[in-house]
Amino acid sequence: MKKITIAIDGHSSTGKSTMAKALAKRIGYAYVDTGAMYRAVTLFALRNKLIKGDKVDEKALKEHLKHGDITITFRPTKEGKSVTVLNGRNVERYIRSMRVSNVVSIIAAIGFVRKAMVKQQQAMGKDKGLVMDGRDIGTVVFPDAEMKVFATASAEVRAQRRFDELRAKGDTTTTFDEVLANVTERDRIDSTRKESPLRQADDAMVLDNSHMTIEEQNEWLYQLYLERANR
Ligand code: DC
Repeated sequence: MKKITIAIDGHSSTGKSTMAKALAKRIGYAYVDTGAMYRAVTLFALRNKLIKGDKVDEKALKEHLKHGDITITFRPTKEGKSVTVLNGRNVERYIRSMRVSNVVSIIAAIGFVRKAMVKQQQAMGKDKGLVMDGRDIGTVVFPDAEMKVFATASAEVRAQRRFDELRAKGDTTTTFDEVLANVTERDRIDSTRKESPLRQADDAMVLDNSHMTIEEQNEWLYQLYLERANR
């Protein structure tokens, strides 16, 4: 079976990273979470006071990127997970905080940041044999990937998943309608931004998991992988 490149893109809250991780583990491929890379750059910018409100000191950020001050890698843990490492330190916990989540879309919309991340992502995938998830993997990072998946689900189903997660974490105040409005707004921002908007690649297979179980979804991906790797 040949080694291939697997690109998984799609809307937020579709469980992209969960399915990408499960597939990578099953077939022995590396897994790269590109959202974590944009989150790590955001953390760097916050720690260096380069973000004030919704304004970014782009000149300073560009200089830092140019001088190689922002190195992002992934490190496997004993439990078989992977953590995001920024300049030698495990930052997994910090990049998932609300502080980062609230401003990451501003950083991810900056052209020179995307250019630098795409370059690193392409270097990580030069030997194939990896699963990468994000928003622009099949369209920009690996336009020649042998397997491209575009994950989606109805806004209502995605909002319900987020709503259930919030309730499980103890949030009893946010309403379903608020979550639904947020999901719809993120879709709008992701797909209308100027730099690499979220778009389904022409040759991507759509995975609508609105009414699928996790097992059904994992099997769907695995069967597609077998077909593509044996082509
Ligand atoms: O998937 P996530 O929520 O961790 O992504 C964090 C942010 O980065 C989100 O605003 C989308 C953006 N992103 C992107 O623009 N391109 C990617 N390849 C991955 C994520």
